[in-house]
Amino acid sequence: MVVAAGSGSRLGAAVPKAFVPLAGVPLLGHALRGVLSCAAVSEVVLVVPAAQVDTAGAIAEAVCREVGARGVVTVVVGGAERGDSVAAGLGALSDGVEVVLVHDAARCLTPVAVFDRVVAAVEAGAVAVVPGTPVVDTVKQVDPDGVVVATPDRSTLRAVQTPQGFRRDVLVRAHATSSDATDDAGLVERLGEPVLVVDGDPRALKVTTSADLETAARLLGVTS
Ligand code: CTP
Ligand code: MG
Repeated sequence: MVVAAGSGSRLGAAVPKAFVPLAGVPLLGHALRGVLSCAAVSEVVLVVPAAQVDTAGAIAEAVCREVGARGVVTVVVGGAERGDSVAAGLGALSDGVEVVLVHDAARCLTPVAVFDRVVAAVEAGAVAVVPGTPVVDTVKQVDPDGVVVATPDRSTLRAVQTPQGFRRDVLVRAHATSSDATDDAGLVERLGEPVLVVDGDPRALKVTTSADLETAARLLGVTS
């Protein structure tokens, strides 16, 4: 599942973020190229804003043609919050699917190797798997007045990315209880199920601001 239904308020472009061009291709096109290049992916549910359904279908068709994808892409309309969009996507999955990857379109340059690592860990028996990278800054926990209450040991911290992989039944159960977490693994944690972190990749950065778009352009070897 690729969630692309956000407005991109922090990026502030004229079109929703997933439809903003990067080196001439919408972020969604880059993201789909990665997803459809993962051999384990049998189908893709694309979650987009209501006004972008036709555009998203055309982008998906072009990428499928480019990579010679075997899978089928279904486009559905997302909701107000990211969790609502994931829930909408879950409703559109085919019956036989047992493993679901949830991926942010905004992490448009995620290498296929990250998808492969997540899939491999789920296939090896983990119920929930997230890619993560070590945290480089020291992180402080603060109270509402900004006073530090704790400094967690940095070596135990990971900044997590997508795709996040789940046994379908676990993800459905997690979303049935609530959808108000910043990532899907957070909902699974609340069920008391274990979540495994595998190696992420700096190229899986989330395009959030225009500076991130410039970083992504640099990674592609172009200037934005
Ligand atoms: N997303 C979604 N539906 C929403 C909100 C977010 O499908 N209602 C998706 C975005 O399209 C993005 C991913 O979730 O691919 C991560 O969200 P974020 O980076 O926060 O994107 P936006 O919500 O679009 O950006 P902003 O928060 O700046 O408005
Ligand atoms: Mg958002």
